Amino acid sequence: MRVALGSDHAGFEQKESLKAHLVAQGHEVTDFGTGSDESVDYPDYALLVGREVAEGDADFGVLVCGTGIGMAIAANKITGVRAANVTSPEFARLARQHNDANVITVSGRFVDPEINERIVDEFLATPFEGGRHAGRVAKIASVESPRSQE
Ligand code: RB5
Repeated sequence: MRVALGSDHAGFEQKESLKAHLVAQGHEVTDFGTGSDESVDYPDYALLVGREVAEGDADFGVLVCGTGIGMAIAANKITGVRAANVTSPEFARLARQHNDANVITVSGRFVDPEINERIVDEFLATPFEGGRHAGRVAKIASVESPRSQE
């Protein structure tokens, strides 16, 4: 998979370990930063990764901040992004099966690295179920602005 990866300072350490984990599994990873634990603003990275996914240049996005919450709020402002803030492998699976999420956001401060690796693995391995869920996802898309207006 082509994976766009990003974090702020609070997610930097886990972003680095997730990058190594994903590369070792053969994924094509593009790292949008940040490059250190110096304080930065999470929306800058959420928007970079979100645009990469929305434009089809990455299959999925992975974002890490302190909680994952700010990253999800910001990424979801990009038309075509369905970002889910996830703290368990089960929710990662459901975010793909039911919501066709294309960006996952995780917590670098409150969730252990081993759990986040399982969360991201589950997310990338699980297909969208379609069926009854497809119409629900289409309803969300129906209220988004056209991408040209962003
Ligand atoms: C940074 O202190 C923190 O606010 C940020 O990483 C994130 O948790 C925001 O949602």
